[in-house]
Amino acid sequence: MALERTFSIIKPDGVQKNLIGEVIRRFESAGLKIVAARMVQLTQAQAEGFYAVHRERPFFKDLVKYMISGPVVVQVLEGENAVAKNRELMGATDPKKADKGTIRADLASSIEENVVHGSDSAENARNEIAYFFATSDVLARTR
Ligand code: CMP
Repeated sequence: MALERTFSIIKPDGVQKNLIGEVIRRFESAGLKIVAARMVQLTQAQAEGFYAVHRERPFFKDLVKYMISGPVVVQVLEGENAVAKNRELMGATDPKKADKGTIRADLASSIEENVVHGSDSAENARNEIAYFFATSDVLARTR
């Protein structure tokens, strides 16, 4: 198994509903370590840039509006197979389709307000981490 890093966002609904602790508890309980974290209010340009792959999708405008509606917590998670593990913990994008016991099934209210974002590949993880963090922001952790 490979030690990997992935990128995670606790979205505005997660922060608003005081779920920061609960989400991080789930990451840490599953063996993912937080190696960088920051609370940010995204600008429109930052949100549009981050979700640029979805620019042509019908939900893009609403997605950007929602992502700038309040602060988010951006994080780098590290662990064995961190990309896949984080996606397992999150569950499917649509909470109605997510497996029971996942973050989205248990805590999310809709396909848009789905509490968390997580990178879907190691390559996207590298790009998404670099979008928010300088190399020097990501700390080496004693394991
Ligand atoms: P995320 O995993 O961050 O990637 C894109 C986001 O767009 C998704 O989570 C949802 O918050 C949002 N979204 C809204 N509607 C849809 C949809 N129909 N399909 C996929 N994502 C959607």
